Amino acid sequence: MNSMNRVLGGPATAYFPADIAAERQGLGEPVKPLSAAQDTALGLDGISLSFGGVVALDNIDLAVRRGEIRAIIGPNGAGKSSLINIISGVYRPDRGRITIGADRFTSVPTQKLARLGIARTFQNLALFKGLSVIDNVISGRAYKVRSTFLAQVLGLSGSRREEADARGRAARILEFLNLNHVSNRLAGTLPYGLQKRVELARALVAEPAILLLDEPMAGMTASEKAEMAEFILAANREYNTTIVLIEHDIGVVMELSDRIAVLDYGRKIADGTPEEIRADQGVIDAYLGVAAENIDGGGI
Ligand SMILES: Nc1ncnc2c1ncn2[C@@H]1O[C@H](COP(=O)(O)OP(=O)(O)OP(=O)(O)O)[C@@H](O)[C@H]1O
Ligand SMILES: [Mg+2]
Repeated sequence: MNSMNRVLGGPATAYFPADIAAERQGLGEPVKPLSAAQDTALGLDGISLSFGGVVALDNIDLAVRRGEIRAIIGPNGAGKSSLINIISGVYRPDRGRITIGADRFTSVPTQKLARLGIARTFQNLALFKGLSVIDNVISGRAYKVRSTFLAQVLGLSGSRREEADARGRAARILEFLNLNHVSNRLAGTLPYGLQKRVELARALVAEPAILLLDEPMAGMTASEKAEMAEFILAANREYNTTIVLIEHDIGVVMELSDRIAVLDYGRKIADGTPEEIRADQGVIDAYLGVAAENIDGGGI
């Protein structure tokens, strides 16, 4: 398991309020190490996906253990986002099965995603740019309340208590992610790096069991990346949130991940611990060699 100290040189901070932690425990969230039988949070079995003549994914198997940070890496166009889009029900695979907890699907019902305990961020930002930061984050809890999100934002709903609860939780997540000072800004006016963090806040406010992160640090400065790494580790450690992480920054991936799957042209060419991946000649040829050149050139 990852060590916060290993990456960040300091102790883990409690990023979530105690009442959220208590609620999660009350809901039976895993708080103790699990037996092998209970170990799998998410499984892909023989997943294939094509777009016309382009094979995006070719017979992919992937097991994600509860509580781990599972990275998916590979060159541009390798199929990484397609995999997350299949897990989140955006794409329907041509073949294969997806297992989420005890449920098996041929395609994941995207409208049930939050109830299945899954939240995600997007490679290309998908915030409501004309809404405030806090209203964007509140939208991440919309599935929990009976009144519609729009009704809440417009203040039309009679369900004031629900709205106050969602607003309070959103405010606390913003504080933990050091975003409280921009809470009332329109999301679209923030610098890119902060918008990426607002997306993380919106995903975390749903208290997901599984968090899918598609390039959460793309386009960030080194210090923004370090902060984001801290938040990802905190979500993983404090809440045992299982994390699927797509990221091009190999240094970050090697530090954060428990296990790494490597895709190339839609095929999984390697799967293992950071040490195993680092030493894999096929991975070096297909991907790490390129990444190393980027590092030398200051490209990462
Ligand atoms: N909606 C789509 N329509 C047509 N082709 C698509 C679609 N989505 C993905 N593809 C194709 O599938 C392949 C895999 O794309 P995908 O976005 O999954 O790659 P990726 O590994 O996430 O790449 P990147 O690192 O650039 O984000 C690519 O050839 C891409 O052009
Ligand atoms: Mg992608």
